[in-house]
Amino acid sequence: MNDLILTAAKIVKESISTIALTGAGISVESGIPDFRSAGGLWTRYNPSEYAHIDGFRHNPRKIWRMIFELRDMTKNAQPNPAHIALAQLEKMGLLKAVITQNIDNLHQRAGNIKVVEFHGNSERLQCIYCGAEYPADEFMIDDEPPHCKNCGEILKPSVIFFGEMIPQMALMESQNLASDAKVVLVIGTSAVVYPASSIPHIAKANGAYIIEFNVEKTVISPTITDIFIQGKVGETLPEFIEAIMTL
Ligand code: APR
Repeated sequence: MNDLILTAAKIVKESISTIALTGAGISVESGIPDFRSAGGLWTRYNPSEYAHIDGFRHNPRKIWRMIFELRDMTKNAQPNPAHIALAQLEKMGLLKAVITQNIDNLHQRAGNIKVVEFHGNSERLQCIYCGAEYPADEFMIDDEPPHCKNCGEILKPSVIFFGEMIPQMALMESQNLASDAKVVLVIGTSAVVYPASSIPHIAKANGAYIIEFNVEKTVISPTITDIFIQGKVGETLPEFIEAIMTL
């Protein structure tokens, strides 16, 4: 057993309030590429064109072509052992909430109940003109951009594009969870996109322990991270749960 994992397990076992902040790295082993690693989505699609709300408004068809391509990649994605590990941690009463930047719904499908969707969820579509919301499956049947049944305008996935506000509820809930947290598990995120990236900083400022799980160091590793556990989370998180169970 990795000593760092054992130390982290002891800390979480004793913690009265542990939260997790997850990023795209937790879903890579489910077959969903992340954004900024080599070969990541932003190395193939320019985010200022494809992930900004102004770009969507300017040329929705172009953005929908990317969305359909990604959907083919992700529609068979299943929760991987890392997602399952966080669901087990919640079931053990040792994880208060997952704050996820991901839109793939894999935490919910793994069984986590308390999931704060910081960047929305791709299972729903919404009309940027009248605000009507719809289940994505109902619409994404061919490669034509879907239209609102209410006002006829083109729909967008209910995910937060650059240039859009984080849902107020998600933001407030995450900030409150971070302020009260004794431990934050920072999992599979480059921790560079604000305001999600502020979560571990808020917690640290309130005396929390920061335990980071990633294949490589990030911007927070040398600054606020207390324990850095290197490796693929599909392996390190199940090992972490196993360690907790031995305590
Ligand atoms: N195990 C552990 N860590 C991994 C793995 C893995 N198998 N695969 C990748 N990672 C790590 C990478 O090293 C990187 O630090 O996951 C992180 C993914 O970082 P990003 O691609 O930047 O994704 P994320 O942090 O979620 O991006 C935040 O940016 O573009 C926006 O809205 C988008 O929610 C996203 C936000």
